[in-house]
Amino acid sequence: MSGLTSQQIISLEEKYGAHNYHQLPVVLAKGKGVHVWDVEGKQYLDFLSSYSAVNQGHCHPRIIKAMQDQAEILTLTSRAFHSNLLGVYMEYITTLLGYDKVLPMNTGVEAGETAFKLARRWGYDVKGIEKDKAIIIVPEHNFWGRSMAAISSSTDPSSYGGFGPFLPGIIKIPYNNITALEEALQDKNVAAFMMEPIQGEAGVVVPDEGYLTKVRALCTKYNVLMVADEVQTGIGRTGKMMACDHENVKPDILILGKALSGGTMPVSAVLANDDIMLVIKPGEHGSTFGGNPLACRVAIASLQVIVEEKLAENAAKMGEVFRNELNKNKMPIMELVRGKGLLNAIVIKTHESGEHNWNTPGELAWNICLKMRDNGLLAKPTHGNIIRFAPPLIINEAQIKEAVNIIKTSVEQVVGVAI
Ligand SMILES: Cc1ncc(COP(=O)(O)O)c(C=O)c1O
Repeated sequence: MSGLTSQQIISLEEKYGAHNYHQLPVVLAKGKGVHVWDVEGKQYLDFLSSYSAVNQGHCHPRIIKAMQDQAEILTLTSRAFHSNLLGVYMEYITTLLGYDKVLPMNTGVEAGETAFKLARRWGYDVKGIEKDKAIIIVPEHNFWGRSMAAISSSTDPSSYGGFGPFLPGIIKIPYNNITALEEALQDKNVAAFMMEPIQGEAGVVVPDEGYLTKVRALCTKYNVLMVADEVQTGIGRTGKMMACDHENVKPDILILGKALSGGTMPVSAVLANDDIMLVIKPGEHGSTFGGNPLACRVAIASLQVIVEEKLAENAAKMGEVFRNELNKNKMPIMELVRGKGLLNAIVIKTHESGEHNWNTPGELAWNICLKMRDNGLLAKPTHGNIIRFAPPLIINEAQIKEAVNIIKTSVEQVVGVAI
């Protein structure tokens, strides 16, 4: 559209934009289904899906149609007034996901903030925690965004470093550690345990089978809210509608975002039952854009696509194929292939890093991503030596095999077959 080359566009960003991202050097101009194209017209398989926001595939016709139709009718009323679509959307999503109520927001981090506020208020009004003493437990290596509460929850220095002072009332414990959780729950001021059922940004860290069930049981035992951040894992990504569904666990508060709009606009949601949601009264929380008519229409279409096209089921099947193919004659350089459904990662062995060395630069992983780009597949390292693979859930078996081929070839080209 601009007639500029990739390099010219990157230079413009560098000159006029804040330097708060380190992108893979590729400039995308078009997306359709599992593919994206750069400004020079080169085609790629998208194995990031905008951090799992594009689960339904790029520019899904049904979602785009809903968006276009509604954009011509009414886009925003604010919550000062009702819109003809908000109640309809609220009924649809709560019925689909099995909660009494939904609180609509925009970005994932806003939904996380909402959950924090909801949990604290529930702690005071229902549990009877003394004023300003509420505690929320979070696991180490969590990621839920960049707001002050989110970085106050973080154990990653590149996320929180230099931004203090931080929010009090947050306790961090190791992930996938039930003993640590039970110990932390001894404090009677704990209102909630907020966690990802699989830690996405930490490098697709899958907890032990049974962890979610035990978390659920402990939260119930100690009268603490279980808050599941399914912003990245939810909406079909891991092979079930929600990652918690793998263990038939129902959190007290469910946080959604990203794929709730199929990657078209920021739409997030917090779901809970009446005993929790109704602690927040008019005027105590909200957002100008939260629950706008455009978002409502788009979110209904986005969820319908997941359900009707059986994308969670496809994610489960294609995920199996992906991991099996990658594990076939697994290259020694790939220490681990892990994941569920279509949220997967490989851990690259490097000389200087072990799996838990979170600050490793991971130059090797970065170079592999550059090579995969050259070979027509886009993915990005997360935490240095871990590369996440999360294609749109509409992907088919031939495309998965093509991708595995590209991944293996690229690794070979970068490290040489001897490693
Ligand atoms: C688990 C999780 N929660 C919350 C967020 C924040 O979402 P957003 O970037 O839309 O604010 C992210 C983003 O990657 C995430 O992965």
